[in-house]
Amino acid sequence: PSSASARIPLPSGLQFEVLKTEGHARRGRLTLNHGVVETPIFMPVGTYGTVKGVMPRSLEEMGAQIILGNTFHLWLRPGMDVLRPFGGLHRFEGWHKPILTDSGGFQVWSLGDMRKISEEGVKFASPVNGDKLFLTPEVSMQIQHVLNSDVVMQFDECTPYIMGDKASGRLTTEKEARYSMELSLRWAKRCQLEFERLQNPNALFGIVQGGMFTHLRDESLAGLELLDFPGLAVGGLSVGEPKAEMLRVLEHIGPRLPAHKPHYLMGVGTPEDLVDGVANGIDMFDCVMPTRNARNGHLFTRYGDLRLRNTRYKTDERPLDESCSCYTCTNFSRAYLHHLDRCGEMLGPMLTSVHNLHYYLDLMREVRESLDAGGFEAFRRQFATDRARGV
Ligand code: GUN
Ligand code: ZN
Repeated sequence: PSSASARIPLPSGLQFEVLKTEGHARRGRLTLNHGVVETPIFMPVGTYGTVKGVMPRSLEEMGAQIILGNTFHLWLRPGMDVLRPFGGLHRFEGWHKPILTDSGGFQVWSLGDMRKISEEGVKFASPVNGDKLFLTPEVSMQIQHVLNSDVVMQFDECTPYIMGDKASGRLTTEKEARYSMELSLRWAKRCQLEFERLQNPNALFGIVQGGMFTHLRDESLAGLELLDFPGLAVGGLSVGEPKAEMLRVLEHIGPRLPAHKPHYLMGVGTPEDLVDGVANGIDMFDCVMPTRNARNGHLFTRYGDLRLRNTRYKTDERPLDESCSCYTCTNFSRAYLHHLDRCGEMLGPMLTSVHNLHYYLDLMREVRESLDAGGFEAFRRQFATDRARGV
């Protein structure tokens, strides 16, 4: 870290400026303790302290401005005793720009039967070694303080779309969604108290919950606004609900988020979801989709999605995306990438991850440029036309 901003904390760890708006869409600038983030932005996911298969220098080269880490995973491995002497996650993982860490609320929730949720927190057995663990709002804040992430997320409960088994379950009721949302609000307050007690110099975001019920989303937002977090996230979307349901909730809550604060849509989504998010006032996105899908041969391109395992690509000499300037597209053919996948070569997922991330980051760069020029709506139409063309 060479810049002064890496050492002198900002007051409240965050500054946010809205530079331009078009409808609900915003072009913004977020200043964090490890640097400046131009928004709207996509944040690559680095769960275990690595964006899988991608070197930090490649992330920089493709224009990543901020990446994610996970409290839950890093707590289990390598653990705080290893990370503390490094002064946090930045030096440990060799990424010196901003980092946002999720609180563990969502990851613990994904454990299914192995967890027990109470007012106090979540008890579970470590999936690594079976140890009994107890994750609470306070513990999550303590871990994220050690990680020294620029953006700390509150510990929350992600309200599921379906209660019980996916096969035998039923839709979450309003009563259940309300209980869960109110628990997350109480945890938000506890997170804020602990964050302040620790004198964490970074920024703490609250998370709007409320399931598919827009009035509960409103109550959640109102409750969080009383606590006056410097940034707000929308959680509990892309959790198995139909696309139309997600859009309904997003169109309701996005435009109601406080205008002077950054808005983060958690765990979403496809390229189309990102553009819809921006149109509804979202500034920040993260999703495992570009990296996970890359490893499975699912590529995103300007002209639609491409399934690399299809035999039609065995002899295709064209790049994945003729309009893409990434390292993969400027040097390698579909035929070569198809071959690497067939042979299980490790360069395969590395090159496809670079392309998919470059595509997501470039899409957001184009969104920012269109907002700068006052042409976001025109961009949105062209985006839809291009994506429907076919690869
Ligand atoms: N990632 C995706 N959705 C969520 C959510 O609702 N809460 C948290 N903490 N992380 C998420
Ligand atoms: Zn490419």
